[in-house]
Amino acid sequence: MNYIFNKGKIDKPVLLLLHGTGGDENSLLALAEIIDPEASVLSVRGNVLEQGMPRFFRRLAEGVFDMEDLAFRTKELYEFLDKKAADYEFDRNNIIAIGYSNGANIAANLLFEYENALKGAILHHPMVPNRETTVAKQDGTPVFIAAGINDPICPQQEATDLERYLKNAGAHVTLTWESNGHQLTMSEVQKAKAWYDQTF
Ligand code: MLT
Repeated sequence: MNYIFNKGKIDKPVLLLLHGTGGDENSLLALAEIIDPEASVLSVRGNVLEQGMPRFFRRLAEGVFDMEDLAFRTKELYEFLDKKAADYEFDRNNIIAIGYSNGANIAANLLFEYENALKGAILHHPMVPNRETTVAKQDGTPVFIAAGINDPICPQQEATDLERYLKNAGAHVTLTWESNGHQLTMSEVQKAKAWYDQTF
């Protein structure tokens, strides 16, 4: 996978950046700088191309995921994290994902599939990645969700359902609403930062 790794302070988390459709490993670097300028950053480019636009897994239509590819890509990303933790000698259990849209969806699926994939997650405009699975135990994993009340791509129900799935699995979920659509706003980034500072 294409990626950027920037080493931060040793005791700080590693921020795993996962862009939206059409983004790349550069897209969310400025966000990491706001959330925690001292953290390490592992920013990954999705391995799938949709009409030239990078994504983290294939979809059959807008909001309709290729579930086989989602499972395959989620495992691929999980194993990539194991490998990079060994290569760069950081703590595998200290990774906090920051994902937007398609990137938030694969981050959510990492939580759905694996007990210890992430120490925490900030999910901007996510959907429920999989409604046909039992969500892995998330023993108090802190998750921040930012959703838009007028988001045509990730309707309100997606955010509230995702909150419920994760809470039922044991995660500590904070859901916040923006009076916007699908765009990632500075206001929600500031809320994510306040949550991060309080939580980690
Ligand atoms: C997805 O395909 O993951 C969602 O529809 C969000 C997006 O447009 O990328």
